Amino acid sequence: MLRVVVIASGRGSNFEAIADSIEKDGVDARIVGVVCNVPGAGVIERAEGRGIPVTMLPSKGMVSPEARVDYDIRLGDAIEAFGVDLIVLAGYMRILQPAFIRRFAGRIVNIHPSLLPAFPGLNVHEAVIAHGCKVSGCTVHFVDEGLDSGPIIAQACVPVRDDDTPESLAARIHAAEHRVYPWVVARIAEGKVRVDGRRVTIDAPHPEFHQS
Ligand code: GRF
Repeated sequence: MLRVVVIASGRGSNFEAIADSIEKDGVDARIVGVVCNVPGAGVIERAEGRGIPVTMLPSKGMVSPEARVDYDIRLGDAIEAFGVDLIVLAGYMRILQPAFIRRFAGRIVNIHPSLLPAFPGLNVHEAVIAHGCKVSGCTVHFVDEGLDSGPIIAQACVPVRDDDTPESLAARIHAAEHRVYPWVVARIAEGKVRVDGRRVTIDAPHPEFHQS
């Protein structure tokens, strides 16, 4: 059984989608813990409602280079205390330190709300609309030491409509995230995901994630 630890800063809808799918689809995985860095974040209540333990590790003010290194050591220790095979970043709003990435090399995945490598970083939907893109979407990728730059595991496209606001586009992309991320976690649990340099292959039928 794949032991999953989710790290999150926000409302936790991806956490919920993954937890639902593990239950409903009988995935051989368990979310053994959640680590959250923002007191009061929605993900805390969602996890507790499911009886999943939450470790709080507030990160406010931990911004100097030394504090960041120290924080990520404590974050790694908190994750390891759960016993972990896969770290799932689900709206974790801090950049992980290189030493953390190396400590859990190949065992961290993230979801980003754009079609990478376009629009990494923050304020993605505003930038997509301002650029005049006609499609956007989301990307699940392994985490490497760059910003949203690791090997791509799966993507889903959604249209950008003429009357979209950042909020309406974000909502459409969120719905796509909830299709793609649980699917990826399930395939990793099955041992069907292979990485060869930048190329990731999945030995399973690929569902239609895109929305027209
Ligand atoms: C998602 O849009 C994800 O792409 C980004 O953070 C957001 C998390 O949303 N990395 P939620 O907390 O899972 O609802």
